[in-house]
Amino acid sequence: MNKEIMKGELCVVTGAAAGIGRAIAERFLEEGADLIVADFNEEEAKRIYGSNEHVLDILKVNATDIADLEKLGEAVKKTGRKVKAVLPIVGNGPNNMIEDITPEMFRLTMDLNVFSAFFTVQKVLPYMSDKSAIVLISSIAGFQGGKNALVYNAAKAAVRSMARSFAGELAERGIRANAISPGPTETKAFTDFVKGDESIRAGILANIPIGHIGQPREIANVALFLASDEATYVTGAEVITDGGFTNR
Ligand SMILES: NC(=O)c1ccc[n+]([C@@H]2O[C@H](COP(=O)([O-])OP(=O)(O)OC[C@H]3O[C@@H](n4cnc5c(N)ncnc54)[C@H](O)[C@@H]3O)[C@@H](O)[C@H]2O)c1
Repeated sequence: MNKEIMKGELCVVTGAAAGIGRAIAERFLEEGADLIVADFNEEEAKRIYGSNEHVLDILKVNATDIADLEKLGEAVKKTGRKVKAVLPIVGNGPNNMIEDITPEMFRLTMDLNVFSAFFTVQKVLPYMSDKSAIVLISSIAGFQGGKNALVYNAAKAAVRSMARSFAGELAERGIRANAISPGPTETKAFTDFVKGDESIRAGILANIPIGHIGQPREIANVALFLASDEATYVTGAEVITDGGFTNR
């Protein structure tokens, strides 16, 4: 169903050159949004969006760098328009056992997931409309423990927490904030994680009751709902989008 529920609305998406961020950007464009997109991989972003007149700006941004994130606010300001939704999608983390985690890895993981999400929102906030939304990407890792990903798990828990704090502080401005917690989703990050090992993939699949590994578009559909006026009474929530993985 295509109702153009974002018609003429300006939205900001980071990490838009691949995976979930790309699926979100493309889904929002299908629904009539105008976008400012940002990614480290400017070349790929230009290849994808360069000829789309609804993509108003393509920014080369390292989301762990505050000076780069300031470009987001400047790009919005240049349009003279208000923002309907901001979606900081950049995130990732190295997998390491506790004894192998270095201070550099710790800081980088926090920067990639927590710092990047917070400061993306902070820089866009002055331009958000009085009926707008923040959609953060946490992960089922944010409420699970388990081996080999302590810092990523902690970072994603912080992202869930930020969604609630944004919701509490910004409700009086009419701004809603929610988090999506995807389970395993078919992106490059996921492919890197399974490292071409079909037995790892099969093991994950066997634990997803709904019977398939999540597709980026399935996450994008949730983001679209949360960002749109279909979700005007939803704020401070976390939508677990994992095919039943954590409730098997
Ligand atoms: N794929 C999954 O299974 C899964 C599950 C749960 C949560 N997530 C979360 O979803 C989000 C997107 O993940 P994905 O799997 O689509 O990743 P991906 O690796 O497929 O894509 C990430 C995109 O972000 C860009 N990027 C990476 N570092 C950047 C930086 N420092 N600054 C700017 N851009 C940068 C990359 O160039 C790429 O375009 C992340 O926050 C991730 O933690 C993913």
